[in-house]
Order: sequence, then structure tokens, then C-alpha cells
Amino acid sequence: MSSLLVAPSLLAADFSDMGSALALATASGADWVHLDIMDGRFVPNLTFGPKMAADLRSRSALPFDVHLMTLEPETLVRPFAEAGADWITFHVEATVHAQRLAASIREAGARPGVSLVPSSPLASIEELLPEVDLVLVMSVNPGFGGQVLLPSCLDKVRRLAKIRAERGLAFLISVDGGVNAATLPAVADSGADIVVMGSAFYGSPSPTEAVALAKGLRR
Ligand code: DX5
Ligand code: ZN
Repeated sequence: MSSLLVAPSLLAADFSDMGSALALATASGADWVHLDIMDGRFVPNLTFGPKMAADLRSRSALPFDVHLMTLEPETLVRPFAEAGADWITFHVEATVHAQRLAASIREAGARPGVSLVPSSPLASIEELLPEVDLVLVMSVNPGFGGQVLLPSCLDKVRRLAKIRAERGLAFLISVDGGVNAATLPAVADSGADIVVMGSAFYGSPSPTEAVALAKGLRR
């Protein structure tokens, strides 16, 4: 057993001061930093593109965990890999050729992840599991921070962890959306390896304590 990993999400930071937000994540003891990329089409919100990632890259040694909530994710693999993304996660709902996309992320030098929205069944990624290093289970409908975690998603995490053990696979499981002090114990218990924390990190009076709380839990 090791500690839960924590990835603060820059979505909840002050967009006029991303450098300081990244410095706060780095100083907090977090393991990764999560970059939410929204295109206004796959989700009803817009964030930022690869230039933001490239400009931030030299300011932190933390792995950049890029979460593409975009249609045609294929077009963004190379730009984000060149911007210094360590992990690139796409939505299975946004592509037809998911296996090819996962392989292209690896070819570009990043580690591939796949995500699914709350209403998508695990069956939609069953064939893809050996091709990815990360499965990001959305525990809210993607698009906005500060939403309430849907408890049914933790059952999905539990079933996913069971499939991973049965098939002898080694991908990491990330839970994204509505993770906070109240939901953390159930999230950790479900089998998550990594938790994304947006509002619970940047909205906390002590982000360092928010990270320590999560890292005190086992996975
Ligand atoms: C939601 C994003 C999340 C978001 C989580 O669409 O994918 O990464 O930042 O925010 P909180 O932790 O506030 O639910
Ligand atoms: Zn995210």
C-alpha cells in the first residue's frame, strides 16, 4: 500500500495569475498538476491551450496531467506533448479510433490516459485498457469545477479496480470531480490511486493541509 497521489487542478485557480497557482501546487507537496482543456464543444466551457502549458512548464518539475475535454482530441496530442505534457488523457466519447489515439500519445512521448463521463459504461473502454497507463473516472459531468461528486461513479471505480486486478493490468486510476475532505475517504476506499482536486485545493485556506489530508490516505 502507498499513499494516494494528489493532482491540484488549475481550473480552480485565478487565471490571471497561473504562475503563482502552479507555484502553490508545487509547494504544497502535490504529486502532479492537472490541466483541464475545454473546447466549448465537448463541454460547455473554454479554458486554455498548449501555450499555457508551455509557458508554465519551466516553472515546476511536477508532472503535467493534461485532461482533454475536447472533440477531435487527435489534433491536440502533438501540441501538448511538445508543450511538456507528461500525461495526456482523452475522452472515449470524443473519438472513434481510441486505440490509435492512445498509441499516438505514446509515440509523441507522453503517457496515455482515457477518461469517461459518468453516464459512459466501463464496457466502452474494456478493449482499450491494456493500451493506457491511466483511467480517469469523471465523478461529475465535465465542464465546471465545484460540482458535487456523483456517488454511483465510485462504484464504477471499484469495478474498474477489480477488472484491473483480474486482468493483471497496471494502469493508474484517477478520480476527477467533487473530491474534497468529505468525499475523500470514500474515494480512497473505492480504489483510486490519484485524486484531482480543484476547488478543494485552490479554495482551501490551507492547500498544503488539503494535500496532506489526501496523502494520509492509503491506496
Ligand atoms: C471538471 C474538471 C475537473 C475540475 C474538478 O470538468 O475535469 O478537473 O477541475 O474540479 P473540482 O475538484 O472543483 O470538482
Ligand atoms: Zn479534469
